[in-house]
Amino acid sequence: MSTKIIQITDLHLNKSKDVVSNGVNTHESANKVIESIRINEKDNDCLILSGDLSNDYSIESYNYLMQLLKDFEAPIYLMSGNHDSPSHLKALTNNKNIFLKNFQCFNNWGVFMFNTKKENSPNGLLKKEELVYFDEVLLNTLYEYIIVFLHHHPVPIGSASMDSMIIENAELLTDRIMKYDKIKAVSWGHIHNEFNLNMGSAKLFSTPSTCYQAKEKSKNFIIDPEALPGYRRIFLNDDGSCDTEVIRVS
Ligand SMILES: [Fe+2]
Repeated sequence: MSTKIIQITDLHLNKSKDVVSNGVNTHESANKVIESIRINEKDNDCLILSGDLSNDYSIESYNYLMQLLKDFEAPIYLMSGNHDSPSHLKALTNNKNIFLKNFQCFNNWGVFMFNTKKENSPNGLLKKEELVYFDEVLLNTLYEYIIVFLHHHPVPIGSASMDSMIIENAELLTDRIMKYDKIKAVSWGHIHNEFNLNMGSAKLFSTPSTCYQAKEKSKNFIIDPEALPGYRRIFLNDDGSCDTEVIRVS
C-alpha cells in the first residue's frame, strides 16, 4: 500500500491574471499545470502546495488559487513561502478540504510541513515551537517513516543568490536527518528548479515551480527559458521507500 502525494509549488499568483513575471504569465502557467494534474493524476491522497502561492500577498491572488483548485476533492495542505500572507492563507482553511497545519499521518508515514517563512525577510527559518513538535513526531513510534516539506531549501544548491535565502538555521534539520533513520525524504520549492541529494537515510529534493524556471547552479538568479513548469508526484510506500518523479508540463 502506498500514499500518493502531489506537490505543487511557487505559483506566484497576482492581483491581476495578466501579470507576466520573468517572461511567464504566472496564472496561465499555474492553470496549465493544475489542469494537467486534474486530468492525469488519479487517486491522490493529498495535494501539498509548498509556498509562494501568491506573489503579491493580495486577497485576489488567493481567490484565484481557490478557483484553480476547486475541482479537487482530496485534502489540500497549504504552506507559506516568503511571498505569502499568513492571514490570507489562514482564511482559506474555511474551505472544507483546505488545511494549514504542521503534521498529518498517512498509514505508517508522518508528513511534517514546516513554516519556514521568516517575517520581513526572504530567507528561511525553522521556528523553535515547530522543532519541538517535530521532535515529538520523531520520537513517536506510530509514525515509522517521515517525509518533511519546506518552502525554503535546507542545503546550499550552488547558486549564490538563492543560497543567500537558505534556511538560516538549517543545521537543526540536517542534524536530525543524520540522527534519525526514519526521516526518508525532504522536499521543498522556492528555488524554481529540480535539485537532488542523498543525506543519511533520506532523499532530499526540490520541485520546479508552476511558472518560470531558474538555471541550475548559476551564480545569480537567471531564468532558463527552455525549462518547462512542472509538479512532483510522490509515493510513500509501506516499506519506508519513497518513489518520486518530477513531471514537466509543456
Ligand atoms: Fe520563495
